[in-house]
Amino acid sequence: MGFNIISAAEAASYIKHGYNIGLSGFTPAGTPKAVTPEVAKIAETEHAAGRPFQIGIFTGASTGDATDGILSRVKAIRYRAPYTTNPDFRKAVNNGEIAYNDIHLSQMAQEVRYGFMGKVDVAILEACEVTPDGKVYLTAAGGISPTIARLADKVIIELNAAHSKNGIGLHDVYEPLDPPYRRDIPIFKPSDRIGVPYVQVDPKKIVGIVEVNKPDEARSFTAPDPITDKIGQNVADFLMADMKRGIIPSSFLPLQSGVGNIANAVLGALGREKTIPAFEMYTEVLQDAVVDLIRAGRVKFGSTCSLTVTNNCLQGIYDDIDFFRDKLVMRPSEISNNPEIVRRLGIISINTAIEADIYGNVNSTHITGTKMMNGIGGSGDFTRNAYISIFTCPSVAKEGKISAIVPMVSHHDHTEHDVNIVVTEQGVADLRGKSPVERAKAIIENCAHPDYKQILWDYQKLASKGQTPHSMAAALGMHDTLLKKGDMRLVDWGEYK
Ligand code: COA
Repeated sequence: MGFNIISAAEAASYIKHGYNIGLSGFTPAGTPKAVTPEVAKIAETEHAAGRPFQIGIFTGASTGDATDGILSRVKAIRYRAPYTTNPDFRKAVNNGEIAYNDIHLSQMAQEVRYGFMGKVDVAILEACEVTPDGKVYLTAAGGISPTIARLADKVIIELNAAHSKNGIGLHDVYEPLDPPYRRDIPIFKPSDRIGVPYVQVDPKKIVGIVEVNKPDEARSFTAPDPITDKIGQNVADFLMADMKRGIIPSSFLPLQSGVGNIANAVLGALGREKTIPAFEMYTEVLQDAVVDLIRAGRVKFGSTCSLTVTNNCLQGIYDDIDFFRDKLVMRPSEISNNPEIVRRLGIISINTAIEADIYGNVNSTHITGTKMMNGIGGSGDFTRNAYISIFTCPSVAKEGKISAIVPMVSHHDHTEHDVNIVVTEQGVADLRGKSPVERAKAIIENCAHPDYKQILWDYQKLASKGQTPHSMAAALGMHDTLLKKGDMRLVDWGEYK
């Protein structure tokens, strides 16, 4: 292939204190796994010698423990964007040790290009193949690879044998021009291909190839339970009803679905409901459930940024590549999540909320207003531009001590202007075409847990009149009660009059 084969430690030595590194991948899928642990060792040595060593990380979405976990534990991260799910990274962020910039995933590549976050010094790309003229064939995710590969001074390739070369051809790599030269992105159906199957890197910038044989740090999800099953069925019933009354075309519309157990339960229910025709996905993350539905003929095509699947499932795709080749495409995150395309295709978005308020505002990111959970991910990219935007969550958390339906969200990610439908295991609140007061009635009646319905009706009584009635003293009273007494059910509205 014509490039130097170097060790992970040698590759890491190109990364200096104060550098920004760009990483391939989106979720643990497609993320480099060998060089970043060696960067952590350098940080430890430097810190032990009393010298500073911290870097900035630009990537597609979350990574694996080999990046966010290991590097945050040795305090080697100064700055990072965007989404992450790592518990040690989360701890460091909430301790104020890391500058974490939680931006919409569709905006990450362009904000790096616009120079909002500084220069990309070194890019590390995971690949299943590299050609001597610098064509890099990515593994299980598109992420921001085309952008960081083009902007970085130096590029390191992790050539990972755990990813089969059968994956070559699954990617459609396309990088839009920046304003004022940006043109329309010509995707008119989820299966349209507009780019090339590789990332073109200037071969002079490739400082070496690190040979790796490590599978993705695939997450496993806990089995569905009666609550997630009920939420899934409620979403499927709602979509079937909307199709019956002609709001959703009978050929159906492409779906975006978030990651996690609820998303799996929703997809499971949609797969079972044969009155919904076989459908397409235009989404950022494909989980095992979708791959099963493709095999079963219930999903006709999946456009995604990453294959965030178990290692067995990924191997199954590589083994059956002749079957999957015309049913899957992976795109860079600014294309998989692009607002222009989401609006054009009429996507039905389904994401998970931490909490929703009675007027339809949604918090996806913060616990009691201050503690970062994961980040907004792609939920904003899809929600604001969707044909129908849906949020799901269990009606209560922590054995009922916390209601997911509250008078006012403690942090705003998705506003009442963008959220169409709220679904809990209790039922479905259809907010479309409703005023704030009408929305509050629908949400309390249909989505709140029985333990909290009267509490929320009582809040309404003390809320002042107005377009969006609230009591400024009481709006966060349920959160305040949780912090003081450990259970939102103990709220005494008399204390907030
Ligand atoms: N207050 C306090 N804690 C809450 C809570 C609330 N209102 N709602 C949920 N939690 C806690 C849960 O108890 C759980 O805690 P644990 O980890 O100690 O068990 C944790 O938050 C996660 O909740 P869970 O019910 O397991 O949901 P999840 O794993 O599906 O995650 C989000 C939910 C919202 C954090 C997750 O979907 C997310 O990060 N969303 C934003 C990104 C996104 O939507 N991307 C879309 C495209 S992939």
